[in-house]
Amino acid sequence: MCGIVGIIAKAEVSGPILDGLKRLEYRGYDSSGIATIHAGRLERRRAVGKLQALEQTLRERPLHGAIGIGHTRWATHGAPNVTNAHPHATETIAVVHNGIIENFAELRESLIAKGVAFESETDTEVIPQLINHLLVSHNMSPVEAFQGALKKLQGAFAIAAIFDGEEDLILCARRGSPLALGRGEGERFLGSDAYALAPFTNRITYLKEGDWAIIRQDGWQIFDATDTEVERREQLSDAASALIDKGGYRHFMAKEIHEQPEVIGHTLSAYIDPVARKVTLPDRALDFKNLERLTISACGTAFYAGQIAKYWFEEWARLPVEIDIASELRYRVLPWPKQGAALFISQSGETADTLAALREAKAHGQQIGAVINVPESTIAREADACFPTNAGPEIGVASTKAFTCQLATLACLALAAGVARGHIDAKREGELVDALLEVPRLALEAITLEPQIEQIAHELAQASDVLYLGRGVSFPLAMEGALKLKEISYIHAEGYGAGELKHGPIALIDEKVPVIVLAPDDRLFEKTVSNMQEVMARGGCCLLMSSAAGIERAKRGGAPWQSLVIPDIDQALSPFVYAIPAQLLAYHTALVKGTDVDQPRNLAKSVTVE
Ligand code: F6R
Repeated sequence: MCGIVGIIAKAEVSGPILDGLKRLEYRGYDSSGIATIHAGRLERRRAVGKLQALEQTLRERPLHGAIGIGHTRWATHGAPNVTNAHPHATETIAVVHNGIIENFAELRESLIAKGVAFESETDTEVIPQLINHLLVSHNMSPVEAFQGALKKLQGAFAIAAIFDGEEDLILCARRGSPLALGRGEGERFLGSDAYALAPFTNRITYLKEGDWAIIRQDGWQIFDATDTEVERREQLSDAASALIDKGGYRHFMAKEIHEQPEVIGHTLSAYIDPVARKVTLPDRALDFKNLERLTISACGTAFYAGQIAKYWFEEWARLPVEIDIASELRYRVLPWPKQGAALFISQSGETADTLAALREAKAHGQQIGAVINVPESTIAREADACFPTNAGPEIGVASTKAFTCQLATLACLALAAGVARGHIDAKREGELVDALLEVPRLALEAITLEPQIEQIAHELAQASDVLYLGRGVSFPLAMEGALKLKEISYIHAEGYGAGELKHGPIALIDEKVPVIVLAPDDRLFEKTVSNMQEVMARGGCCLLMSSAAGIERAKRGGAPWQSLVIPDIDQALSPFVYAIPAQLLAYHTALVKGTDVDQPRNLAKSVTVE
């Protein structure tokens, strides 16, 4: 989603702002822009497409000044064109904005009635127009006008503004979307996250929900939602030391797929005592023992991780689970249990729907747990108990390592719930702990399938539709595999429960629709394989992913088009190792198709709007 960078420095800022924006590219965007103040006057440059276009514009028409704000825009209201790109400006003010102004139509109408002319189709433009109106018609100071406008704006947003004639003033506010302030020597910075500020400083202060701030070159004042001046803790961010480079890989996604053995191990080590062969949760955990029901919610890939975990919670802890995508759960009229807990899963910890679903569950008295990759995020802060996934920064828009680390955390939680509820004895706990500790090695083994997957990808790239089938824990994984393929290769793909095939999707089968069958050698193996044979009987070409023994058994009913031998693993934990070939297949297919793997079209990394 949109990214914000702002700098007040001693020297020219447009270059550094551009560097900061480059570090926000991973969030997804389709236009960009920078505004500065030079010799007291506001100036701006904007461009459509990648930041190279803005860089080119800046080469042709340089932007001077030691104060400025920059923005990468992911279009919500209005097409991605120069007029709709940020910063939006009037003669007196330039504004960058992340999020949505929900009452923009009403504000726009009332400003138009006062004679204000709008030039863009965006919701954002009401902000500079409103502030300009308060400055000019009500004779307010920049701070008063900014405060006044904040009181009228509804929605979830982060904004930053600079003012004509004010070379030592940036005003910013956070409501819903994160903002980080950074302190340098005689320089001040602000950004959508600490990564954006990593080239400049590691001394980071996060604004809290409802905060707004006055930033000057030598310091800042922060105010809370009641306009009371407050102190916010400075922390040393490790974003600067986090390797925000591709580590020799062609894409962040490739690097992140290959990091999985290590980061899954890192995540498991936070929850497992390998000597005692026990699972250990942080002190502030959920009271699994007395729960009537667990509700799980998330979006996209994180939701599929939750769906896999539902099987684990039900089987190991005999705990009833209600699960839904966050955009639905937040509006459902659910009968919430008296003794209930709700678990929210999010890589970024900022996803608007997941956050809203969390607040809904909290309002209904549920204990709130969060499985989160960004510990300083809003969802992490609002949860009663936070369960980190130690995946490290995930930059590729398509989630890979965050997914398997979510699985690692969720498996440990489900196991702990099983122990707490008396359904897992010490022997089974030890067995499952041993099996989990094997996952990093097996993940590494799964990665060695890459050359074979690369070959298959050349053929898969010719397809325009692909089906993924699985049963049990492989059913959500089939949906995740299909999501990976569609989002980065733009090939239409769907995941189905294999048993559902006959109820409709089988009508799609012909020799042009490859079917990817995820069939770990578990108690449902024979059922899934007979679904595969139904496809083959209708001329469909199948790629079977199974264990060596499974593939041998399946071949008795006729050999599939392709097969991939996946390492043997405890049946319940198969999603860890089946996820990796599914990710690699999507990645290599996208390479063949020549798409933008790390920043697929129309997608954003952190979806901070509804
Ligand atoms: C898909 C993908 C998305 C995210 C979803 C939730 O590859 O990355 O489906 O999983 O937008 O994002 P988080 O986990 O940040 O809440």
